Amino acid sequence: MDTEPPPPHVLIFPFPAQGHVNSMLKLTELLLEASLNITFLISAKDHDRLARFTTVHSHLTRYLGRFRFHVIHGLYEGPMDTDEKLSVMIADSLPKVAVPLLRDLLVDSHVTCLIVDGIMGFPIDVAKGTGVPVIFFRTISACALWAYFSVPGLINSGDLPFQGTNLDERIVSLEGMEAFLRRRDLPSFCRSDLNNQTLQQVIGVSRRTTEAHALLLNTFDELEGPIVSQIQKHCPNIYTIGPLHAHLKARTLSKLTSSNSLFEEDKTCITWLDQKAPKSVLYVSFGSLVTVTREQLMEFWHGLVNSGKPFLWVIRDDLVLKHDDENKVPYELEEGTKKRGYMVGWVPQEDVLAHPAVGAFLTHNGWNSTLESIVEGVPMISWPYFADQQINSRFVEAVWKLGLDMKDTCDRKIIEKTIKVVMEDRKMEFIESADRMARLAKETVNEGGSSYGNLNRLVEDIKMMGVGSK
Ligand code: UDX
Repeated sequence: MDTEPPPPHVLIFPFPAQGHVNSMLKLTELLLEASLNITFLISAKDHDRLARFTTVHSHLTRYLGRFRFHVIHGLYEGPMDTDEKLSVMIADSLPKVAVPLLRDLLVDSHVTCLIVDGIMGFPIDVAKGTGVPVIFFRTISACALWAYFSVPGLINSGDLPFQGTNLDERIVSLEGMEAFLRRRDLPSFCRSDLNNQTLQQVIGVSRRTTEAHALLLNTFDELEGPIVSQIQKHCPNIYTIGPLHAHLKARTLSKLTSSNSLFEEDKTCITWLDQKAPKSVLYVSFGSLVTVTREQLMEFWHGLVNSGKPFLWVIRDDLVLKHDDENKVPYELEEGTKKRGYMVGWVPQEDVLAHPAVGAFLTHNGWNSTLESIVEGVPMISWPYFADQQINSRFVEAVWKLGLDMKDTCDRKIIEKTIKVVMEDRKMEFIESADRMARLAKETVNEGGSSYGNLNRLVEDIKMMGVGSK
C-alpha cells in the first residue's frame, strides 16, 4: 500500500538582523500555511528577543509540529550600524559558525530545499554536492539588488569610480534607471574606494544569485516589474511574492498574526494616536540599525517641532551615537514636544502606519519600512542612511511619486520645509498616489494577483523538488 510522503522540509536561514528575520518569518508562515515543514535558523540573541518581546513561539506552535527554530550559538552580537561591521559579520563571524552547522543539517535533516538570505553566498558552497537546491531570498528591493548586480558594468562604463565630487551627475549606464538615477542614489558603498571590502562583498554575493536555483523577492510586479525584468535576464527563475506582511494577512484573514519585533513594543503610542485628527501626525522612525549623531538629532528635533505637526518619534536606546553630559534639551524643544510630540523606544510599526491619524512617514527607507508604508498608503519623507536605502528613496520620489527625498542633508530648515510640503502644500497629490499604490499592493496578494499566483507556483515547485528527491 502507498503511504503518503512526508511534506517537503524547507530550511530557512535569514541574516541575523531585524529587517531580515522579520520578513523571513513572514515567508515561513506563508509556507506553513501551504502545509510545508519548516526549520528556521536563528541566532541565540534573536531567539531570546523574540521570546521576550513577541508571541511568535506560541503562535507558530499552532502549526502542530511542522515548525521548529534551530538556534545558532556563538555569533557576534554587537551593533551592525556600519558597512564595515555588516561586512565582517557576513564574511567572517557568520560562516565560521554556520558552515559546519549547515553541513550537518543538510546531511541529517532530510531537507528538500534551503531558502537562504541572499546577502550570504556561502550556503551555496555548503549545499554543493548534497543535491539540495538553494533558493535565494533577498530582503531588499529589486531596484537595490539590480544596482548591486550592475556595479561591475558601471565600472566598465566608467560611471564608477566617480570622477570629481558632483554627486548630482547622472548615472547613464544602469539599464532601466537611465532617466533618473544620480550618483547620490547609488547604494552607499559606491561612494567609497572600489576595493573596499563591503563593496566587493556586495558585488560578489549579488552575482552569486545566478548560481541559486531561484530568487525570491519581497516586492510586487506592479511596483518593480520593469526592474525585475532586468534581473530576470540573468536569473530567470524569480518569484515576486511581496509585500510579504500584506500577503500573510491576506492568506490568514481570520487568524491573529504575531509581531516579529526584536525590540519591546510600546503600545501606548496607539492610545496617543487615537486622540489625533485623521492624517495629522508625522511618524518618524529610522528602523533598527541607523545611528545618528547628537547634532543630527538636534536638527531633526528642531525641524519636527518647527513644522508645527504632531509627531510620533521612535528613539531606540542606541539611536544616538554619543551620550555626553551636555545633553541639555533647549526649552523650545521641550515645550514643542510636550505639546505635539510623543517619543518611544519602539512601536508596533505596522499598526502605527495603519492608524488613520498618521499622515506621513519620515523614514530611512529600509525596505520593510518602505513596503509597510506603501501598503498603508502613507506618503514618505526619506532620509536614507546606508546600503540599499539610497536607491529606495530615489524610487520613492522620482519613480513612484510617493514622497520627497532629503538624502545627504540634515538641516532643520530643510526638514521643516519638506514636512510642510508633504503634509500641506502637496498633501493631496501624495495621498492620491499613495492610495493608488496601496490598492495595487493589496490586489497583488489576493486571489488573482501576481504575488498570490507566484507564491502558489513557488509552493508547487518546492513540492516537486520533494518528489524528485524521494
Ligand atoms: C535594513 C535595511 O535597510 C533593509 O532594507 C534591509 O533589507 C535590512 O536591513 P532596517 O534598518 O531594520 O533594515 O529597516 P527595515 O527594513 O525598514 O526594517 C525595520 C523593521 O522593524 C520593519 O519591519 C518595521 O516594521 C520594524 N519596526 C521598526 C518596528 O516594528 N517598530 C519600530 O519602532 C521600528
